[in-house]
Amino acid sequence: MGKISILDLQSKKQKGEKITMLTAYDYPFARLLDEAGVDAILVGDSLGMVMLGYESTLPVSMEEMLHHVKAVKKGVKRAFLIGDLPFMSYQASKEEAIKNAGLLMKAGCDAVKLEGGKEVFDTVKFIVDMGIPVLGHIGLTPQSISKLGGYRVQGRDKDSALRILESAMALEQAGAFGIVLECIPYLLAKLITEKISIITIGIGAGPFCDGQVLVLHDLLGIFEDKKPKFVKVYANLSPIIKEAISSFIDEIKTKKFPDFSHAYELPEEVWEEILK
Ligand code: KIV
Ligand code: NA
Repeated sequence: MGKISILDLQSKKQKGEKITMLTAYDYPFARLLDEAGVDAILVGDSLGMVMLGYESTLPVSMEEMLHHVKAVKKGVKRAFLIGDLPFMSYQASKEEAIKNAGLLMKAGCDAVKLEGGKEVFDTVKFIVDMGIPVLGHIGLTPQSISKLGGYRVQGRDKDSALRILESAMALEQAGAFGIVLECIPYLLAKLITEKISIITIGIGAGPFCDGQVLVLHDLLGIFEDKKPKFVKVYANLSPIIKEAISSFIDEIKTKKFPDFSHAYELPEEVWEEILK
């Protein structure tokens, strides 16, 4: 199957086929995801927390995003590749937004993602008008975590639910090709998904979205920290990785590794020459 395009993603919504998306931040995982057949790969600014150990996504820079996008791009043959615009790369002006969106595209992305609803209407419209596809992101928007007061479900009261719905419609109007719905009640996600013609990708937004995304390292159980309710751990890799490393340490100490099956021979005649 060939490279996945925006039209393929859109037609999945029409056919009622679910869209699959995961994050990746480096070459080996990008290859694994692509080979496993995921529809879309997001180089999320979650890389700040997952790859760089930051406490939030706020410190992530354009340089850091581009560094990881370039690595991921090399591992992707088929999946649709989306890059996150990090905090303060698109908020100050439309000019900065288009410049940074362009840098992500030059590094190999097929589209960019940015956070916000009605307040980013002009920015989204400008980027799309210049020929760069934009994925919106509403609900829990980690770049405004300080304003939201913490990582919590959004849209649980009438005002905030209506604001999220209006934002979804504004993003569609602005020309976004889809919207990530993060951490909102599933009935609100269902309503949005039915009301708009563009795709919805849920994370903690229930089963009625057109597609689903998770942070790769959450799904793989790389970290042992407490995870939000919406995360499903499909493989618990951290004990497996630790066990492999402990075995290595043990075998070195007990001189079990390397044995001769992992070592190179010197031809006998050369050995004798050397000893002469
Ligand atoms: O940065 C990220 O990984 C994201 C997804 C969780 C949607 O924005
Ligand atoms: Na993000």
